[in-house]
Amino acid sequence: MSSITYSDKIPNNVNLSEDRTLQRALEQWQPNYLKWWGDMGPDDSQNFDVYLRTAVSVDPQGWAQFGHVKMPDYRWGIFLNPAEKDRKIHFGDHKGEDAWQDIPGEYRANLRRIIVTQGDTEPASVEQQRHLGLTAPSQYDLRNLFQVNVEEGRHLWAMVYLLHKYFGRDGREEGEALLERRSGQQDNPRILQAFNEETPDWLSFFMFTYFTDRDGKFQLCALAESSFDPLARTTKFMLTEEAHHMFVGESGISRIIQRTCQAMNEMKTDDVTKLRAAGVIDLPTLQRYLNFHFSVTIDLFGADESSNAATFYSTGLKGRFEEGKRMDDHVLKGSTYKVLNVQGGQLVEKEVPMLNALNEVLRDDYIKDSIGGVERWNKVIEKAGIPFRLKTPHKAFHRNIGALSQTKISPDGRVLSDAEWKAHVDNWLPNDADRAFVGSLMGRVVDTGKFANWIAPPMMGINRQPADFEYVRFN
Ligand SMILES: [Fe+2]
Ligand SMILES: [Fe+2]
Repeated sequence: MSSITYSDKIPNNVNLSEDRTLQRALEQWQPNYLKWWGDMGPDDSQNFDVYLRTAVSVDPQGWAQFGHVKMPDYRWGIFLNPAEKDRKIHFGDHKGEDAWQDIPGEYRANLRRIIVTQGDTEPASVEQQRHLGLTAPSQYDLRNLFQVNVEEGRHLWAMVYLLHKYFGRDGREEGEALLERRSGQQDNPRILQAFNEETPDWLSFFMFTYFTDRDGKFQLCALAESSFDPLARTTKFMLTEEAHHMFVGESGISRIIQRTCQAMNEMKTDDVTKLRAAGVIDLPTLQRYLNFHFSVTIDLFGADESSNAATFYSTGLKGRFEEGKRMDDHVLKGSTYKVLNVQGGQLVEKEVPMLNALNEVLRDDYIKDSIGGVERWNKVIEKAGIPFRLKTPHKAFHRNIGALSQTKISPDGRVLSDAEWKAHVDNWLPNDADRAFVGSLMGRVVDTGKFANWIAPPMMGINRQPADFEYVRFN
């Protein structure tokens, strides 16, 4: 089960050749996918040989094989984690029953919505990142970008497989629609707002892969608990790929910080104008980008109080992060949770039924996890002896979804008037000058072993290769 068949037109470990109808449907979708990739995938990359990892099994040890691959020849396929014997549902109203190998009729609509929403984020991020290859700071980074892109493409395959296999004609139509929506397009945008934002520069890309791919991790972890076993198994394998995406983000920002701190110490200054003139990204700008990506990403968890979240949990479709490690009854009727509201010009906690607050529960778990990497970034600044610390903003800051979206809140959690917000917002979120400055640094560096001035080389390359390895052959 764990080994992957590459001799089929569509690589898979689900015995696809035994289900002719499904195989045919997916083989019809495949050229449409490749056309989408040609139109909306990485700009100008068709002739490159890129040092990519390809899944060869789903075993945790050694699932990946590395080698130079011509980009459009990447073998996207369908890989599920092996089935767990006698897996039981372990939360919600069906707790203790056998996990479902097929979808109970009454849950079809909700499951379809969950799978389509997840599936939509995957091609969206490829579209958001499609121009970045033109301004890569090094071959190493270009390779990482393309690795993330091909794997997001594969995540789309994972969701489309479920749609085709379990949702019949509706599923096939959804599969087509996933190739038709476009990130940021007015008439047919992607479903979630963060996936319609632009990723115009590499600072945004690293922030996106640190913060927004981490949202992916938490959504996938919650779906990996699902009573619908094929969804659980496919998301478990997606998670092994997601880890690298977050690494790209965390290490990317860390290398920017390292370079900036080096320049600050050499020049003995924290003067933003001087640092910008020296071509490095000042720390306050990093903080503003962080504020933006953090706040846009935590909106992805949805409204703080949500009856849909309660339904998804109670019916067993979507669990909590690390459901199995929690010590409560996994049914949660009668439990409560605190959410934030604004009352009389102040943020106040309000106790609500936990089932209705499960979006908030997942958001809070996410926030805890994302703070970890920010602390590691601060270690780099601290080691350089510089008295500056990055900080995730208050979770009520710059929100667009839920009860907090009605009010302006500062990064330290104070309720503001519109006038106060307007007076300070340029200090809190990337302003036009920041974006223009960061944009001005973006130039293409592709000589083997060379890095742009604004970012330090990595400590180690990919697959234990050196930093000056030939990661991309441009032909
Ligand atoms: Fe993904
Ligand atoms: Fe990802």
